[in-house]
Amino acid sequence: MGQTHPQMSQTHHMSSADSAVDVSIMDGSEKKFDLSLTDKVIAATGPNAHPRLAQVMPSLVRHLHDFAREVNLTVDEWTTAIELINECGRMSNDRRNETQLLCDILGLETLVDEITANIVSSASVSGTSTPSAILGPFYRHDAPLLPNGSSIVKDLTPAVPWYDQAVADSAYITGRVLSHNPLFPDMPPTPLRNAIVDVWHTAPNGLYEQQDPSQPDMNLRGRFATDAQGRYAFYALRPVAYPIPDDGPAGKFLALLDRHPHRPGHIHFIVSATGHRTLTTQIFDDRDEYIEKDSVFAVKDDLVVHFEPRERDPQAKWSLNYDFVLEAAMMGL
Ligand code: BEZ
Ligand code: FE
Repeated sequence: MGQTHPQMSQTHHMSSADSAVDVSIMDGSEKKFDLSLTDKVIAATGPNAHPRLAQVMPSLVRHLHDFAREVNLTVDEWTTAIELINECGRMSNDRRNETQLLCDILGLETLVDEITANIVSSASVSGTSTPSAILGPFYRHDAPLLPNGSSIVKDLTPAVPWYDQAVADSAYITGRVLSHNPLFPDMPPTPLRNAIVDVWHTAPNGLYEQQDPSQPDMNLRGRFATDAQGRYAFYALRPVAYPIPDDGPAGKFLALLDRHPHRPGHIHFIVSATGHRTLTTQIFDDRDEYIEKDSVFAVKDDLVVHFEPRERDPQAKWSLNYDFVLEAAMMGL
């Protein structure tokens, strides 16, 4: 970041008579902050402000100003941070969302996902429905609707550079989509017919198809509708660890923090059914060395899965059975 690295300050708020002045002791010398600045910024919000903004901005301004005072943020450092954010904007387009990536490496998308789940869901609190995980920037709408039992691996031939790994990691993934009704918490979940399981993951080279011109359109993506017993089934690959895009400002920031960019191997899902809260989540392969060190902090214990060796199936060397439990949506909630 900037040139100067002043020590963190210790702040002492003065008595109420001097409440507009904050004294910060650095290296034995006293620095004074005009605390009324924070109050003035908060008070500048007008009576017709957007209600949610009027609610949240006082807290944001206080945290922002307290942070700047606490770390003795200098103009150089602030300018560097502004440039980082500007660079994120310049780099973002409909194929890449660098600002979201910056939030991800700071754990903000995971935190906001958790907050949202706490607000909309009662059952996840008691651990009965499947936990959510972040969407990430690589979802595509309109993946093909495929018959159960078919494969999301497209055009795999020995000419594909990662053919051998794809064969070694070929997997048959099955499970059910179940309904949990929070009004009857002790009732076992019941199967959901016609739920949609929307799935996507990277190729063994760690790239999603839209990042990799050598992959067919919509490779390793598909949607499956559950049968009358709530079952889905498809062929895919065991997922591999991959680095989040680190050739931009988010990557530069990771390097400055001495952090790696890797995500543990995972498969993304959006599971939806009429009358139920849509679940956005990921499952994580327990073989992965990054399982405890996800660069975007999305791993949750209940989402870690174990693939079993699969016998007598020329299409798959591994199998996984995983049930998704959706929460019935309460009217008016
Ligand atoms: C992903 O899993 O696709 C992802 C999530 C956050 C940042 C980058 C990628
Ligand atoms: Fe991903």
